[in-house]
Amino acid sequence: MVHITRRERFSSAHKLENKNLTFKENCDTFGACYNVHGHNYELFVTVKGEVNNKTGFVTNLKDLKKILNTYIISKLDHQVINEVSFMKNKIASTENVCIAIWDELYEQVKNKLNCELFCVKVLETENNIFEYFGEK
Ligand code: NI
Repeated sequence: MVHITRRERFSSAHKLENKNLTFKENCDTFGACYNVHGHNYELFVTVKGEVNNKTGFVTNLKDLKKILNTYIISKLDHQVINEVSFMKNKIASTENVCIAIWDELYEQVKNKLNCELFCVKVLETENNIFEYFGEK
């Protein structure tokens, strides 16, 4: 079993807000992050699988790159995360971004890449890093 990680980058804006809270509760909870602001995010997607004898690959990275661009990066890059289709009605935290990316990719990886999604990791800043391994 080999794990492979592909890195992508995206730049997006977000606003941390719970629409069920009052203005004051949102300010108290999210502080400056209640304002729209942006990050240069890095996304690391790790898949795992057995090496195919015919190709020497677990999966073709070209195909993983294409799936990431089609289903994730093209939807997030230079957008407001709160308005992205797979983030609708969710708080636009990086925790929730990780889970949403996992949910978007899981079946794609399984069906099109013949391997298994292992981890979705998002760096929001160089100091704040989020990882999701699915619900085990
Ligand atoms: Ni932020």
